[in-house]
Amino acid sequence: MTDEKMNKFENIEELVKYISSDVKNIIVMTGAGISVSAGIPDFRTPGTGLYSQLEKYDLPYPEAIFSIDYFKKNPKPFYTLAKEIYPGNFCPTPTHYFIRLLEEKGLLLRNYTQNIDSLENEAGINKELIVAAHGNFDTASTIKGKHKINPEEVKTSIMEGEEGWKRMRQKYGELIKPDIVFFGEPLPYRFYELMKEDFVKCDLLIVIGTSLQVQPFASLINLVSEDTPRLLINREKVGNFYKYRDITLIKDCDTGVRELACSLGWSVELLSLIHISEPT
Ligand code: APR
Repeated sequence: MTDEKMNKFENIEELVKYISSDVKNIIVMTGAGISVSAGIPDFRTPGTGLYSQLEKYDLPYPEAIFSIDYFKKNPKPFYTLAKEIYPGNFCPTPTHYFIRLLEEKGLLLRNYTQNIDSLENEAGINKELIVAAHGNFDTASTIKGKHKINPEEVKTSIMEGEEGWKRMRQKYGELIKPDIVFFGEPLPYRFYELMKEDFVKCDLLIVIGTSLQVQPFASLINLVSEDTPRLLINREKVGNFYKYRDITLIKDCDTGVRELACSLGWSVELLSLIHISEPT
């Protein structure tokens, strides 16, 4: 590796120059941190993360609420939580709109998200450019037969509470759930298919709002080539972002994307996207 490559990205200004001149295929990897300012807690931030607020469910361990084996034995905690977090009451954040702006600039190759809130769709990002690695509420199935069920019928039953989901279990002869990927379930076929073709083409990886604790998603950061720059925007240092080609903005993601947009001369466009969501 020649010297200039070793010091390729000392600071954000150099990265901005690179984005403005050479970049064509940006992959954005996102986690729960990008929806925190929408009012949706992340999972692992001590004190405020979802996993530190589950005492009332009396779980053996916090992640059990999203474990398929635990769900089969005791579905009530998940259904109760699902009623609280069901998409429809939250708005996309500046970070979602920054990703939309990358699409509008023709620079977004793909957004791999771990989030199940579908705020990417709400922000108007083309579904073709989204990989919902951990699924979402858009579709629903029976858990054994994997038979598709009308997601509206599932939403209605979950909103009704215990009555509702027990009625569905009766009707379909087995438990049903939105197509969220539980621990112990495989990720969608689309994830494995697209990652094979996307990461070899990636000329800039941006990772935002994730602790990179969950596999196989977390390992995606190692699929880009050795000299592809990787930008982390996160409240804390995570992953293996210390190589010569890595840049880290350790801060709130909405602040980080606003600063990046400003350096790129995109502030007005970002603001106009953010304002399209505000009630008139
Ligand atoms: N700005 C920047 N970073 C933030 C913000 C914010 N406003 N809020 C939180 N963060 C950071 C946290 O510091 C943490 O590093 O985002 C990260 C969120 O990490 P997690 O809570 O672990 O969420 P995530 O990485 O998405 O979890 C991955 O775990 O339980 C499973 O399936 C679930 O998809 C989820 C997966």
